[in-house]
Amino acid sequence: HLDALVQSKLQSVGQDSPSWRHSGSWWSEVQMGPPDPILGVTEAFKRDTNPKKINLGVGAYRDDQGKPYVLNCVRKAEAQIATKKLDKEYLTIGGLAEFNKACAQLALGPDNEVLKSGRSITVQTISGTGSLRVGANFLSRFHTVAKDVYLPKPSWGNHTPIFRDAGMQLKAYSYYDPKTCGFDFKGALDDILKIPEKSVIMLHACAHNPTGVDPRPEQWKEISALVKKRNLLVFFDMAYQGFASGDIDRDAWAVRYFIEQGHNVVLSQSFAKNMGLYGERVGGFTVVCKDAEEAKRVESQLKILIRPIYSNPPMNGARIASTILNTPELYKEWLVEVKDMATRIIRMREELVGNLKKEGSTLNWQHVTDQIGMFCFTGLKPDQVERLTKEFSVYMTKDGRISMAGVTSGNVGYLAHGIHTVTK
Ligand code: LMR
Repeated sequence: HLDALVQSKLQSVGQDSPSWRHSGSWWSEVQMGPPDPILGVTEAFKRDTNPKKINLGVGAYRDDQGKPYVLNCVRKAEAQIATKKLDKEYLTIGGLAEFNKACAQLALGPDNEVLKSGRSITVQTISGTGSLRVGANFLSRFHTVAKDVYLPKPSWGNHTPIFRDAGMQLKAYSYYDPKTCGFDFKGALDDILKIPEKSVIMLHACAHNPTGVDPRPEQWKEISALVKKRNLLVFFDMAYQGFASGDIDRDAWAVRYFIEQGHNVVLSQSFAKNMGLYGERVGGFTVVCKDAEEAKRVESQLKILIRPIYSNPPMNGARIASTILNTPELYKEWLVEVKDMATRIIRMREELVGNLKKEGSTLNWQHVTDQIGMFCFTGLKPDQVERLTKEFSVYMTKDGRISMAGVTSGNVGYLAHGIHTVTK
């Protein structure tokens, strides 16, 4: 009698069907997904056995020997931390307080009125991606007046899934002009003018990824005025502070200018590139508010949002970054090292163009030196990228972006030869 009862219950919920009973798998409906457009390039690179292979896919700094580079100031900070024999208790939900303060000061400038009046809140995040995701979730929950996020065309590949998975709608504004390999200022202004009020606009603070094309200060001023006129919420992504010009203040200029102009921005920061803390996952998310009381309310909700995702952030990287930012000698040393990294990249841009000319290329490669930061948007077409990978084992993203940080004195000649061969 009991068996019959169970059988009839199962029938009523449709779980006695043969397909359920005999499939032997919970995941037979899961489709094979494509590799990540950026991190997947590294996987392909690792499989290649050509000794001349070059990985210019992911944006990760290499020294001139092509080796991953751990900054001296990081090594020193680690040594200092080790001697302290600190405990491993949980951080608070918002992260390490002294890191958060220094992180915001680095972006906004220590004398910023916003920090003095306490009308901003910064939480420690799992690097830039984690910061963007916390930000996207926060907007999705609280910026209910508009769900549209306008990204520059093109934008970092991960922006789209981050905002989409958080429930926002993706839109785009003109940014890059393939004809000049430069900034489409007019196109950007025309498009921004049409963005519906209260929408979110994503701006790359410096060293635009993937194009390496940044607005000039006069252009930023016009963008700021227009964004204000349209009453848009500004989301700054600053993953490369210091990496663009070698000067952390110069690279933060746009963020500081917008705030000065009255934009209450939200801001994502990463210490992956400028401190070389990639795998340590150190970042910050800041919301600039109307006043200190609003900042307190926002803080409370950020904590409520973070707690069920990862509870509280990891401490090691934040301790390293905080030690560097809060110890004057280490801070000074860091500034020099950031400048050195930026300078090496700028030199490689020049050498790449020099070598392309030596190879006999008559194409105009000026954009290689005009663009700024970690990446160069070469203008190579997908079939040329494919040839470069197949014939020369040069790995890069399909859009023609190369990480200049992977170019060295040792491989720049080979790279130029490859690029010339596929573009002549
Ligand atoms: C990149 O664009 O290569 C970097 O920002 C690394 C990443 O996570 O994609």
